[in-house]
Amino acid sequence: MERLIESEEFKHLMSLYQCAIMEVETKFNVLNTQFTVNSSYNPIDSIKRRLKSPESIQEKLVRRGLPVSAASIRDNLSDVAGIRILCPFEEDIYAVADTFLSQDDITLVEKKDYIKRPKSNGYRSLHLIVEVPIFAPEGKVLVRVEIQLRTIAMELWAELEHRLRYKQDLDPALAESLSEELRACADSCAELDLRMGNAHRKIDACRTFAATPTCMFPRIRS
Ligand code: GTP
Ligand code: MG
Repeated sequence: MERLIESEEFKHLMSLYQCAIMEVETKFNVLNTQFTVNSSYNPIDSIKRRLKSPESIQEKLVRRGLPVSAASIRDNLSDVAGIRILCPFEEDIYAVADTFLSQDDITLVEKKDYIKRPKSNGYRSLHLIVEVPIFAPEGKVLVRVEIQLRTIAMELWAELEHRLRYKQDLDPALAESLSEELRACADSCAELDLRMGNAHRKIDACRTFAATPTCMFPRIRS
């Protein structure tokens, strides 16, 4: 791995993932601004990004019995570039994801809806794997990015669950009761999202929205 990390090929690949993160993050920022202008409402609370570390890349390839090479990273890993979108309410997630996916330079590779079908431990989020074009010196290349969309409540649960997961060597009975407790906490977070979403919709229904302004630029159709 040391030799690979030092290679120009690896550095170039990582720079492409970095660019893909920037592209996708900009798209979400633009989208948030447009929502805000059109409806005075911010469907994105915040954005987090991360580039997978060389150690985690190696660990994942070795764990899966895959070759440790730049080509193998490109062909087998979808989460080297990662973006997390935090939304205030659950319905924002779908509005933001649908608008993002409707952009014609974005290709959806995989969608996992852990909100409609939570994991058995209670984990909830909407996961998208997409390909975004990057204009590199060698020409246009398609780079994969993993996007996780969550509410603030889902993020709270996932962050705390992630920390607790590192606590190994627990007595099996205690581990079992803790997973039940975490599952119950996930249900509480889901109920919180539901109730806050209902409150939001009631407030929203009382608002009068300004008409959508007419576009000043010609629309480009491809
Ligand atoms: P891996 O990246 O190998 O896990 O691939 P996968 O195909 O299982 O992907 P999946 O979409 O299930 O999960 C990818 C990412 O979602 C993880 O790296 C975490 O960031 C997040 N995630 C998935 N499940 C959980 C969970 O139970 N708890 C927490 N805290 N995060 C999770
Ligand atoms: Mg997994």
